[in-house]
This record gives sequence, structure tokens and C-alpha cells, in this order.
Amino acid sequence: MKVAIIGGGPAGLYAAILLKKQRPQAEITVYERNRADDTFGFGVVFSDATLDNFEQHDPASYRRITQEFAYWDDIAVHFRGTVHRVGGNGFCGCSRRMLLSILQERARELGVTLLFEADIEDESRFADADLVVLADGINSRFREKFADHFQPEVDLRSNKFAWMGSTRPLDAFTFIFQETEWGPFIAHAYQYEVGRSTWVFETDAATFERAGLAGLSEKQSADRMAQIFGWFMEGHPILTNRSMWRNFPMIRSRRWVKDNMVLLGDAKATAHFSIGSGTKLAMEDAIALADAMAHAPTVDAALQTYERGRREEVEKTQHAADVSLVWFEHVDRFWDFDPVQFAFGVMTRAKAITYDNLTLRAPDFVGEVDKAFARQVRAKGFDVDLDKPIAPMFQPLKLREMEVKNRAVVSPMCMYSAKEGVPGDFHLVHYGSRAIGGAGLIFTEMTCVGRDARITPGCAGLWNDEQQAAWMRIVDFVHANSAAKICLQLGHAGRKGATKLMWDGMDRPLEQGGWDILSASPIPYFPDSQMPREMDRAAMDRVKGEFVAATLRGEACGFDMLELHCAHGYLLASFISPLTNQRTDVYGGSLANRLRYPLEVFEAMRSVWPKHKPMSVRISATDWAEGGITGDDAVAIARAFGEAGVDLVDVSTGQTVRDAQPVYGRMFQTPFSEQVRNEARVATMCVGNITTSDQVNTILAAGRADLVALGRPHLVDPAFTIRAAAWYGASDIACPPQYQPGKEQVFRNSVRDRQDLDDLKIKAKPKTRAELKADATKPLAAE
Ligand SMILES: Cc1cc2nc3c(=O)[nH]c(=O)nc-3n(C[C@H](O)[C@H](O)[C@H](O)COP(=O)(O)OP(=O)(O)OC[C@H]3O[C@@H](n4cnc5c(N)ncnc54)[C@H](O)[C@@H]3O)c2cc1C
Ligand SMILES: Cc1cc2nc3c(=O)[nH]c(=O)nc-3n(C[C@H](O)[C@H](O)[C@H](O)COP(=O)(O)O)c2cc1C
Repeated sequence: MKVAIIGGGPAGLYAAILLKKQRPQAEITVYERNRADDTFGFGVVFSDATLDNFEQHDPASYRRITQEFAYWDDIAVHFRGTVHRVGGNGFCGCSRRMLLSILQERARELGVTLLFEADIEDESRFADADLVVLADGINSRFREKFADHFQPEVDLRSNKFAWMGSTRPLDAFTFIFQETEWGPFIAHAYQYEVGRSTWVFETDAATFERAGLAGLSEKQSADRMAQIFGWFMEGHPILTNRSMWRNFPMIRSRRWVKDNMVLLGDAKATAHFSIGSGTKLAMEDAIALADAMAHAPTVDAALQTYERGRREEVEKTQHAADVSLVWFEHVDRFWDFDPVQFAFGVMTRAKAITYDNLTLRAPDFVGEVDKAFARQVRAKGFDVDLDKPIAPMFQPLKLREMEVKNRAVVSPMCMYSAKEGVPGDFHLVHYGSRAIGGAGLIFTEMTCVGRDARITPGCAGLWNDEQQAAWMRIVDFVHANSAAKICLQLGHAGRKGATKLMWDGMDRPLEQGGWDILSASPIPYFPDSQMPREMDRAAMDRVKGEFVAATLRGEACGFDMLELHCAHGYLLASFISPLTNQRTDVYGGSLANRLRYPLEVFEAMRSVWPKHKPMSVRISATDWAEGGITGDDAVAIARAFGEAGVDLVDVSTGQTVRDAQPVYGRMFQTPFSEQVRNEARVATMCVGNITTSDQVNTILAAGRADLVALGRPHLVDPAFTIRAAAWYGASDIACPPQYQPGKEQVFRNSVRDRQDLDDLKIKAKPKTRAELKADATKPLAAE
């Protein structure tokens, strides 16, 4: 077998090593345009888990890498004169030069041919090769040459960064967030060998311009960084090595394989440096390729297996990197945070690290986070314990005069079980049991303001006395038997009206018994959906009147709070999104125009809803579709409703158009809540694939939302909040006397269960690299 590898970076060299080990007879050549010791960059970082992977695949190079690395366990966050250190992170660093020289030596030892100063222009010279590995890095010539086939997508991020170094010793992965006269600068720094550390400096484009960095030479910009971060450097110099300021390109390629050619490492996909995964991804690509080659019958099959098997892992890492880089791009959102809350945000920015996980490894740090949170609650007038504060999920919140006992919310969920809009026994049990289950606030399902405002024939309504009496029965039950507050969600289905019950075909038009539907513009939801009628002024007045009438009925029922549904493509959402609003009058065009009618409805409701009771609005913060609403629009929408008197923005996303492309995942809508809350400066509720109380606490403690709603988790577990209260020892949680023995038992058992789980987690923790480094000096078992 003949293998040609273009590029002698970590991906190319490691692929050569693993393939040669597997096929000693194969003729494997690495072509590298640079000289052997001609390398850019400073250090590279690996996590413990990555090193485990290296150990399994090539113990010899693993052993040499681990002999050279610097190990650290702590992450230190410097912000506004404070430093917070969190242990248990398990990372190692070594110099890129050393890594490459170890890999080169290992490759040579195995019989790989390494050709340096060999700049490959044309792959046709490898016509006789069985496999051609394109490991030619971030600016891959071959990815671009075959761009039509590989279909790369390059997203050039807005921040500027430069990779530099220093002799400053560091005993932790160090983040420094530095205020300057020009704006914020960030340093990401770690030591990779004795007397050498990597320093990546980052700033936003406007700060970069204001600081005049655009016109400076490499040396001058290093001097500027030394000046900015001088207080920390203790006289150590900032070093450069092709340390140009650049914008990070997030690269994704639709295809990785062309005939017998395969993209590896940065050539196919990049991950932002803030999660330290570039070299890891490159080397793990090599592992995946070698594994596929070991098991597949042909090269062709192996390449397909590599691409199929590896893509999800790469995309997951890229997604984490995206979330992380966005956090750094918007660091100004958090600049006025309490430093400990800020540090918690840094730690938890990419989802993998959570409140519970940090409690286990850095209990004092989380204790400080809890205290900072409790101080904010105290500042709002609550007499909460500051010395031993309860977890954020169980801290109260006040909106106008309404106080909620905890921050867990039952999200609005249509039950499609009303008869002519009247909620029945199912609803009483449904809402009643969730209220007893401990949630601080319960939202009703979308309750429709008129018969023709319904989504389906099973939707609840509030346009007549019978419905009002039925809702009052539910509200009274909730108030009499729980500490929960209950919020009425009012809505109008718009173009999604006259559709089937969820279980008969979500959003599909009714075959019989339908009614005329309305929307901002006459655009059907599905091509075969009913054509909605464009609302004229008379229809607008009629529907606004229905919203006001339902608001008055809601007050008569005794609801504590009111929400206006402006999300998910229903009537008011159809005005807000440019994809569904094509009007040419004052209700179409600019965002201000598209918001005009929803705001008019909101203001009319607000004017009759009691002053002491809060109101929220649910929005779709993105349409997840080209040309639709974006996070930035959501901030403008939230500001507009904020000015109209909204107390809380309930941040959902999508469901406005059929061809949306949502990016699902854990807590996938939370970044929008974070953006709206911290840019528009309004209280927010987030929702969407939040399934654990750990996630709830992580979101709240990091300042990403003020309330957290859970929908589907509450469908199977009405007592979600009581269980969580037991876990966090929030013994104040309300429980009706009938259920008290159950509460006592779950609280008792939780203490033991939590201890058992913590013990298990501690036992399952793999050996630290410090221990492994000691092992590395022992003789190596035969390979
Ligand atoms: C300037 C810079 C500095 C960096 N510094 C660091 C750092 O300090 N720490 C860190 O963790 N990560 C760093 N990175 C990122 C990290 O290097 C990459 O994520 C990782 O090296 C990817 O490995 P790779 O093998 O895919 O690509 P690379 O390491 O980029 O290797 C690709 C190799 O292909 C060679 N090549 C390209 N085209 C040809 C051709 N036509 N013919 C022959 N050879 C070719 C290149 O010379 C290069 O050696 C840096 C990246 C850049 C661009
Ligand atoms: C069965 C069901 C019905 C829903 N009905 C409504 C509704 O009436 N009003 C609304 O705003 N959202 C509705 N939603 C959306 C939820 O409120 C929530 O935003 C969504 O389910 C995501 O949260 P989750 O991942 O916690 O379930 C519904 C969701 C489900 C599963």
C-alpha cells in the first residue's frame, strides 16, 4: 500500500504513525513544505481524556509527550482586581515544537519517509497512491482546490486575536479580562514547559481599532500587550513568532472525502482556540482514520466509515467551541457582573461544566457564587440567608407585586383537551398536580381569545362565562393547595389555526369543521394549509378587543400574571417576523412597523390588567431561517416591549416557518435568553431542552435568565421541583399536609443518594496526569 500525506502537522504526522504501525509494509510519505524544526506557535493543550486516547493508540509517543508536558489542574479567572481559581480541570500543555519533534522522531523510527521543504502544488503526482491524506492545515490548498466537492463554509469571526508567548511561569490555565481605555482585552494563557507560556490575546474589532493595533508591527503590538497586561507579567517579556492579529475562521466542510483523498485536522474543520481543541481534533481525526483503515475491507469503505463515524464528534466539539467563542465575543454583556458570577459564567460557558459538577470540585467557589446570587436577591428586598444561601433555583423572585418562591416554571403547554374552549377535569388535575409538585410559577397553555383564535378544536379559551368559571376553578385550586403562582397565557393562532390535535397531525389543516383564519399576510403555513386572510384594520380592532376582554376575564379568574403569546408563528408572531409579514402598510416593513400591532395589543391589555400584577411576552428570538428574526432583532423586540411595560420576556425560538433549521441540543435556546437579558437589560425566562435542576442552577447562577421554564420534563414529572428541592436541601418548599410524609422521605433519602452519587463520581474519576507522569518514568510494558 502507498500512502501520501500532505502536511506534517500533528494530523499528518500522527496519521502516518498510526497507519505505519498498522501496515509496516506500506510505503508512507509525509510531505511538509517547512523545514523540520521550522514551526510556528507556542504550546498546545490536551485534556486528560485526550491523553487517554493517545495512550491507547500509540503508547510510545504518548509516553514521550507526557514526559515533556506541563500539567495543571486549576483554571484562574482574573477580573476587576479579583482572581477566582477552580481546581479539577486536568489539562496538560507541551510545546508545539516539541510535539512535532516527538511525532517526527516516532514516524521515522517506524519507517515513515518524511520529506521537508516539499511544497505540494498538485496532487496528480500521487496518482499511484492508494490513499492521499490532505492534512495541510487551516488554509488548505486542496480543500479550496476542490471546494465544489468538499463544500467548505468559512465563518470569519468578528474578534481579533494574536498568538504570542512569554517566559512568565503560570500554575493554572489563566484567563485575564482587562479593562483598558479602548475597551476590554482578554488573555488566554497557560504554561507548556518550564519558563514558557502561551498567550493568546483577544479583543473585539472596535477595541482593536481604538487601540490602534491595526497599524502596529508584530513587535509593537507585543509591546502594547506587555503594557496592558504588564501588572501581571512580573517583568517577563511577551514573545512573538508570526504573531499576527487575525480573525478566527470557523471552518466546516460538507464533505471530507473525495475519491481516495481525505481531509484531516484543521484542513476540514476548526475549533476556536478558547476550548483548546485544535491539536486534539487533528490527532483524534488521525486516530479515527487509522481505526477505519484497520477494519474496513477497502480504502473507499474506510474513508466512508471515517467520515460517517467521526462527523458527530467533530461537530459536537465545534458546537462547544462556537458557544465558547460567542461568549468571548460578547464579554461586554457581563462586564458589570459581580466578579464571582462572571467567573462562574466563564467556567460554564460551553455547557460541559455545570453547577453540580463545580460543587463537587470547587465547593468554596460555588459557595461564593451562591452568596453573590443571594446578595442580589436580598437587594430586591427579600430577607434571604446570606451566610448559607440556598441554591439559585430556590431563591425567590419578585415581578411587580407578585413573588414567586422559586425559579422553576411549568412552561405553557397546550393539552388539546378542552371542549369548546372549556378546560375540564383533565386540566384541573394537570395544573393542580404540577402546582402541588412545587414549581414556583405555572403557565397555562395558550388560551385563545376567541373561537376562531384557536389552534385546534381542543384548545382552551377564555371568551365566555363558562370558560371563565372553569379557569377560576383551576386558579382557586392552585392558590388553595400550593404556593405556586399561575400565569395566563393568551394567544391567537393566526395562520396556524383550524389545525388538527397534536396527536392527529401537528399544524396540519383540519379536514372538516375548520374556520376562517387570519394572519399578517396571506401566506399559508404548509403549501396545502388554509390560506389566511390578511388582517385589515377592522379585524385588528376586533382581535385587540378580544385580547382585552380575555384579559379582564383573566383578572376575574384571579390569575397572578398574564402572558401575551407573540411566538411560534401564531398571529402576533406572524406580524413580527419578516418571513411571514409582507405588508406594505404601517404594520409591515421595518421591525418597528412589524411590532406596531403586537405592541398595540400589549398596551391595550396592560392598560386594563391591574398595575400590581406583572405581564410577560413570549417571543421567538430567532426564526432559525435565512432572512428571519435573529438574536439581535430579539434584543430590539425585548427593548420595545420593555418600554411598553413588560416585566419579563419569555425567550423561546422558531416554529414560525416550515423550512426553519433549528440547532437543537441541551439548553439550546438559553443563549438567546442570555443575549436578551444582558443586552436589553430585561428580566428573562429561558426554556428549551432544559431537563435537570443542575442545568437550572447553572443558567441562573451564570446570569443567563431570571426564571427557567421546563415543558416536557413536567409532563412526566409533576414533582420535578420538590425532588430538586430535596436534592439541594431547600426544605422550605411548600407541600400540602396530605403529602408531607412523601416530602419527608424524599428529603431524607436525597441526602444519602447525593452522598452515594458524589462518592461514585469521585471513585470513577480517572487517574490525574500528575500520577500518570510519575508512572511514565516506570519501564514501558512491551507493545
Ligand atoms: C499561526 C498559528 C499558531 C498556532 N498556535 C497554536 C498554539 O500555540 N497552540 C495550539 O494548540 N494550537 C495552535 N494553533 C492551532 C493548531 O496549530 C491547529 O489546530 C493544529 O495544529 C491542527 O493540526 P493540523 O495538522 O491539522 O494542521 P497544521 O498544524 O496547521 O499542519 C499543517 C501542515 O501542513 C503544511 N502544509 C500546508 N500546505 C502544504 C502543502 N501544500 N505542501 C506541504 N505541506 C503543506 C504546513 O506547513 C503545516 O505544517 C495555531 C495555528 C496557527 C495558524
Ligand atoms: C405538548 C406541548 C404543548 C405546547 N404548547 C404550548 C403553548 O400552548 N404555548 C406555548 O407558548 N408553548 C407551548 N409549547 C412549548 C413549550 O412551552 C416549550 O417552550 C417547549 O416544549 C420547549 O421546552 P421543553 O424542552 O422544556 O419541553 C408546548 C410544548 C409541548 C411539548
